[in-house]
Amino acid sequence: MSRLQKRDSWGSRLGIIMAVAGSAVGLGNFLRFPSKAASNGGGAFMIPYFVALVLLGIPLMWIEWTLGRYGGGFEHGTAPGIFHSIWQKNRFIKYFGVIGIFGPLVILVYYTYIESWTLAYSFFALFGKYSSLTDQASMQSFLSGFQGLEKNQYFNGIGVAYTFFLVTFALNVWVIYYGIKGGIEKLCKIAMPLLFIFGIFLMVRVLTLGTPDPAKPTWNIVNGLGFLWNPDFSALKSAKVWLEAAGQIFFTLSVGIGVILTYASYLSKGDDVVLSGLTASSTNELAEVILGASIIIPAAFVFFGPVDIKAIAGSGVFNLGFVTMPLILNKLPLAPFFGFAWFFLLFLAGITSAVSLSQPAVAFLEDEFDINRKKAVSIFAVVTFILCQPAIFFLGRGVVDELDFWGGTFFLVLFATIETILFAWVFGMEKAWDEIHKGADMRIPGIYKFIIKYVTPLFLFVILGAWFWQEWLPKIFMTNVSSQDKVFILGTRIGLGLVFVTLALLVKIAWSKRKKRGAK
Ligand code: PFF
Repeated sequence: MSRLQKRDSWGSRLGIIMAVAGSAVGLGNFLRFPSKAASNGGGAFMIPYFVALVLLGIPLMWIEWTLGRYGGGFEHGTAPGIFHSIWQKNRFIKYFGVIGIFGPLVILVYYTYIESWTLAYSFFALFGKYSSLTDQASMQSFLSGFQGLEKNQYFNGIGVAYTFFLVTFALNVWVIYYGIKGGIEKLCKIAMPLLFIFGIFLMVRVLTLGTPDPAKPTWNIVNGLGFLWNPDFSALKSAKVWLEAAGQIFFTLSVGIGVILTYASYLSKGDDVVLSGLTASSTNELAEVILGASIIIPAAFVFFGPVDIKAIAGSGVFNLGFVTMPLILNKLPLAPFFGFAWFFLLFLAGITSAVSLSQPAVAFLEDEFDINRKKAVSIFAVVTFILCQPAIFFLGRGVVDELDFWGGTFFLVLFATIETILFAWVFGMEKAWDEIHKGADMRIPGIYKFIIKYVTPLFLFVILGAWFWQEWLPKIFMTNVSSQDKVFILGTRIGLGLVFVTLALLVKIAWSKRKKRGAK
């Protein structure tokens, strides 16, 4: 192979664990999880959630770490090349791998914008910009004004939000410009401990709230925690709860989309993946079910009560994070300080995930086109900057929800299914089991051989099947989309289709170049 450059690598084992944990711990842990849990009845959600963790999340995490390290050995850091290395005889498999670059890009374009809100709100909190607002309606109009959805006394356009977007975008690009060891690893080694400090601090504050209103003695922290943790077995009968729980597991662990493949491709052959993968995933679960579950929901329960919490949760992720939470924190002494801790926690969680979503596209350009990192990052920056614009300017038209559906739900499950089949059935379970354990610090319990081969794929097929059964037609025909928004949703889909086709063409070009070079 005529490689012009040497691939980047991680500086230390702690570094990659922090980076993968950084990718996993994100807005999903602190906003998406509480919203999903509360809108699926609290305790009803947690059983399917843990089942999905054990049968889908953990197996996929090992699959991705192993496939990534394996692909890195062939100097491939993204799914087209990794899939090709596994199944060289199949000419089409590399095109399935396109999802592993496309999916992260789709998530990235809306994720970056939300990440920029968290930075903006950190400043708003610190400088008391929303400190006089005490009810849902005014906090909501503050948010809508900021997002440019309405002109009001707080904001007269999208200018402030756009400025914060530019700063956030530049920060993300700056980190990846410095590469794996010099950028991503350095960031995560600082940001992750800091994030945990902020998280623990907020959790302790919420857990010591007690009963703020003596007239409502049942609105207390114990009942707030009970809302989430008292199991409700009847929910096991609902297909929707299962789908939501599985979707959350994928999203929160960053598996099933290609990001961990890329991170693991910078490992060396003899590096452990079993324990490292497990450590990174456990860190994520700690941040989700201990910190994520102990902040918004119990606090909202204490201040708004058992009835309203359902409506609040149903009002969506943005409302929980940017309306309910600042309102609650406003009621506490030292409000600016707690507000800052909350939003800056979200910002740290967001930036460490955003860089991970960026890396597959950059790695693709570097590995398959032999472009150096700085050039690859520059191309990436220009293209994604353009792609981010619709999410910013058509936010109110359902574009973000549409991107989240395809990138953050559908393609995730689809890609996870392809990966699992390739790993367990094409690569072969015996070989796969040996490959996982190369350099391993511990052995995986034998039952996981069975789980990875049969249970995980079956579970994934059931999820895909149930989705097709229940939602395929209404989704495709936009049954639940208002007529003014249809054109925007259609535009988003056409845009997504074009991005996908462009990536597939790039794969084709890269492979015909390889052929000319005589590479396999
Ligand atoms: N895991 C991140 C979160 O919980 O916010 C989101 C995410 C990052 C999803 C990277 C997928 C991904 F590849």
